[in-house]
Order: sequence, then C-alpha cells, then structure tokens
Amino acid sequence: MKVMSVVGARPQFVKLAALAEAFSHTQHQHVIVHTGQHYDADLSDAFFQGLSIPDPDVHLGAGSGTHGVQTGTILAALDPVIGAARPDWVVVYGDTNSTLAGALSAVKQQFPVAHLEAGLRAFNRRMPEEHNRVLTDHAADLLLAPTDGAIKHLTDEGLAHRAVLTGDVMVDVCLRLRDRVLRGEAVVPAFPASLDLRKPYLFATLHRAENTDDSGRLAALVNALAGLPVPVVLAAHPRLLARAASFGIKLEHGSVRVSRPLPYAELVASVLESCGVITDSGGLQKEAFLLQRVCTTLRAETEWPETLRGGWNALVPDPRELGSRAWSDTVLRPAPKASRHMPYGDGEAATRVVRALEHRLFR
Ligand code: UD1
Repeated sequence: MKVMSVVGARPQFVKLAALAEAFSHTQHQHVIVHTGQHYDADLSDAFFQGLSIPDPDVHLGAGSGTHGVQTGTILAALDPVIGAARPDWVVVYGDTNSTLAGALSAVKQQFPVAHLEAGLRAFNRRMPEEHNRVLTDHAADLLLAPTDGAIKHLTDEGLAHRAVLTGDVMVDVCLRLRDRVLRGEAVVPAFPASLDLRKPYLFATLHRAENTDDSGRLAALVNALAGLPVPVVLAAHPRLLARAASFGIKLEHGSVRVSRPLPYAELVASVLESCGVITDSGGLQKEAFLLQRVCTTLRAETEWPETLRGGWNALVPDPRELGSRAWSDTVLRPAPKASRHMPYGDGEAATRVVRALEHRLFR
C-alpha cells in the first residue's frame, strides 16, 4: 500500500510523527508531502528533527497568504505531485488550509482520501478551521475519528458509514514525550535567564485569527495576561508577533515573558513544569489535559469539549467580563481532585489508523 501524507502546519507534524512511526513497522510505502504553509525553522524543522520524522519527500514551498491564495497555491502545486505518485491513500490531517487543499486535490483526481482527526466541530462558522474541517469531512472517503463525540457529529451529518473510531494520534506522541521528559531523556526547557522566570509560572500561547487580528481584542488579552500575579511564559507564534508589532501592542510587560515557539519536547516539559496553561490552541488544550495541568481557553467554544469535564479546561471568551480577581482565580485554580476520564484513547491510535487504511483498501 502506498500512502501519501500531506502536512504543512505545526500541529500536523506532531500527528505525522505518530503515523510515520507506525508505518515504519510495516511494508507500506509512506510518502510525505510538506506544503510549506509553515516555513520558519521553529514551526517546522524543529518538529521534524525533534520528533525524528523522516524528511519530506516533496516540499511545495507554498508559504503564507490570504486563505484563497494559500489554499489555491497548495492545491495547484499538489495536483501534479499526487497525479504522478498515484497513492492508494492520501491522508490529510486536522483543519488547516493544507488539509482542505490536500483533500480537494486528491478527491478531484479520484484518489481515495482519509481525514485524520475527522468529526471535530466548534460550531463557530467564523473560524477558518471550522470550514476546513467540515468541507474536508464531506470530501473524504475515510473519516478517522479521535473520539465518540466526533463519531456523533459525523453520524449527525450522514457520514457514519465512512467513519472509524481510532482514538487520537496526538496522545501517542504526547505521552511518549512525557515519559521521556519524566525519565530525564528529553530536553528540558531552557528558558533564557532574561525571562526572569520563577515558579510557579503559567504557560501561554495565542495565535488564532479571532484573537490576534483585532487590535482591541488582542490588547485586552495581552493586558489580562500581564496583570496576572505569577509569570506567564508566552510562547509567541510569528502571527502574534507580526500582529502585535503592526498594532503597536507591547507583548512583554507586567507578568508576560515572551519566548520563541517551542519544539515539542520542550513544550511538553514546559507544560509539565507549569502550574497551568492559557491558550487558544486546540492541540494545547488537549496536551494540558493529558499532562494533567488545568487549562484556561481564550475562546467561547472548543472542539475538544471532553477537556471541560471535571473542570480541567475552562472557556473564558473575554477575561474583562470576569474582572481581574475572578480571572486570576480561574487561571490559577487547583487541579481537580476527581479521577480523570480518558476520552482520547490509549496511545495506540496510529496503529489503528494504519489498520483502518489497510482494511478499507483491501476489503
Ligand atoms: C495555521 C492554521 C491553524 C493552526 C495553526 C498552527 C489555517 C487556516 N490555520 O494557523 O488552524 O492552529 O496553523 O500553528 O490553516 N508565519 C510565519 N512563519 C511561518 C508561518 C506563518 O511568520 O512559518 C506568519 C505569517 O505572517 C502568516 C501568519 O503567520 O501570514 C499566519 O500563518 P498561517 O499558516 O496562515 O496560519 P496560522 O496562524 O499559523
């Protein structure tokens, strides 16, 4: 079986690591196509190296642009690559513009498409990721769903016959890294002394368009982080740095200490050493849950609602509405005492994905 993975953005590299590892134990041919959506070394090379992912077989070099330009550039560049390789499966990951472009190129050339992380819904049609995941699910032939909730969404949309529950491949990678960090084998975070970091600290990221692209909203969120009573390490995505610079918003003030985006092992170690996480990233909400750190999500909804159960994750769309005391109490709340349910699978999802691809192809 010849499987082509199409990836382009940071969270997709983490999921790719799980599949590349699973394929390495089989006779199947696994071809990796990097769209080039993320090109900075911190967002791309650091993940391939740190997670021992084989170098991409093809790099499309698409780069940044408006949604139309980025999606269209990837789509046009992918057509000849998929057409020449003639894969048995094209696997697309998650909900980025690379995901949608990969699904469209494959389906229009009549190559079977599998969508990894299918069935997630935030029910917010203002998010570009929501369009990408809905359109990709409806285009794909095989829907690899991480949770029961994802299966339910696919069933509600008439897609149950194409869906398989595999568990979440991010669990495979995150827990493997956690164990290496706890055994002292993986890199521990080396925040520069200039960060003046004392424990306890909070670990934060902020990169979603709905939070970064409006100057008033971005300023309010940064001020809310700056006003917290413990240091906040803000691992800044280039999009955040670019928007803050163009709006004249100073990120590093009050409690905020700005760090570069972290390679995956350092991210896992930083979350483990933190007393909590503040984020608008889907992946980091789940990583905090898996690593047993409370998470506060700067959004009105989440595509990972399982993290909300028991209070591990809390949605705070606008810290200003809480007032500074309640905001601080929320982000610094103690970890829930009740035992955690494990809705994301057992860390063997990638093996199930390979089996599902084999089964659907050869039946
Ligand atoms: C993309 C995904 C988002 C995912 C995120 C993970 C879409 C619509 N969004 O968002 O779902 O959560 O990746 O990080 O696909 N930039 C750089 N260097 C890079 C990449 C981007 O400087 O290597 C800057 C550019 O200014 C660019 C901006 O970041 O315009 C946004 O990048 P883009 O890939 O469009 O979206 P992300 O915000 O990274």
